Amino acid sequence: MSIDQTLTSQERLADLDLDQLRRLVGLVEYDPDGDPFPVTGWDAVVWSVGNATQTALFFQAVFGMELVAYSGPETGNRDHQAYVLRSGAVRFVFQGGVDPASTLLDHHRRHGDGIVDIALEVPDVDRCIAHARAQGAKVLVEPQDLSDEHGTVRTAAIAVYGDTRHTLVDRSRYTGPYLPGYVARSSSRVKPEGKPTRLFQALDHVVGNVELGRMNEWVDFYNRIMGFTNMAEFVGEDIATEYSALMSKVVASGNHRVKFPLNEPAPGRKRSQIDEYLDFYGGPGAQHLALATDDILRTVDVLRAEGIQFLATPDSYYEDPALRARIGEVRVPIEELQSRGILVDRDSDGYLLQIFTKPLGDRPTVFFELIERHGSLGFGVGNFKALFEAIEREQAQRGNF
Ligand SMILES: [Fe+2]
Repeated sequence: MSIDQTLTSQERLADLDLDQLRRLVGLVEYDPDGDPFPVTGWDAVVWSVGNATQTALFFQAVFGMELVAYSGPETGNRDHQAYVLRSGAVRFVFQGGVDPASTLLDHHRRHGDGIVDIALEVPDVDRCIAHARAQGAKVLVEPQDLSDEHGTVRTAAIAVYGDTRHTLVDRSRYTGPYLPGYVARSSSRVKPEGKPTRLFQALDHVVGNVELGRMNEWVDFYNRIMGFTNMAEFVGEDIATEYSALMSKVVASGNHRVKFPLNEPAPGRKRSQIDEYLDFYGGPGAQHLALATDDILRTVDVLRAEGIQFLATPDSYYEDPALRARIGEVRVPIEELQSRGILVDRDSDGYLLQIFTKPLGDRPTVFFELIERHGSLGFGVGNFKALFEAIEREQAQRGNF
């Protein structure tokens, strides 16, 4: 039995090691030999946005990300501009249409700013595609080699929920800054003195919102086609408020680097946050990305000072004796969490700290979570009720509740 101990190319670049990843995102050991669709980890999250030039600057200035590569008219790409940014092992690619006929502009018209591709690093693209095809997956891009002076990348893509895809990438024979077609590019922006260099180190999970009644289909898709295993499920009381409800199941790759909670709305007295998302995104799509940090207090302070708005947590959350008893000792006094609105959850493995931003774009769709894990491999189920009530307050202000 071989135990997978491989770092992704991004993790190596970020100087992360397996111990850090165990702490940050709950990485586990596993045997890839019996896995029909081995996944090493995240490759990139690719966004379609209305203005990639400005969005790239926003994620540098506010989220402290670093510009590393670029593709656009100057590099021979007349269709769109694309900026590749990184923070630790996290890679975001922001694409915006240049040619009025670009299909990216159609995507943006339908969905607004959103995630088009959750790309995964795999050791063997052909093996994954052969298995996926045999299991009935829709192959959007057949396995192909892309080459330039830095070597060769083998990629392919399969369709998942809505207009979202998973591109599979084997970059073991490639040393370039991102993909052929991209050139290395660093920022002309001057970092303010004293601003921390890395506000988050790794991607913990990406949540998909799917239509009513289809969550189990997508769980089955990830089980059968991609060999993912079920990690957790949340149904019933845990995940309902007085007014609205949803259901959620979490699937994970063998090593738990890649975790996909999948949500569907559940019938309630009012409109669920998932229904609001589906209406405004124009169908299923990626709802939130959880960014793992080793210092959530510092990250929240910096982001708040930059103007990022977080969901408000009422003081009653921190004053609840049942919550205080349940969370026990955490690394800072609870007042430090309260003043920042950071939530705590504890299970038998440990605890986690988390907080959620408001949607970052114009539509009430995609948002971010920050997460600092201390042993807990959970998703903050103890906070779902408080969190959903906060979301309902926001939904009501938008007139969508
Ligand atoms: Fe989450």
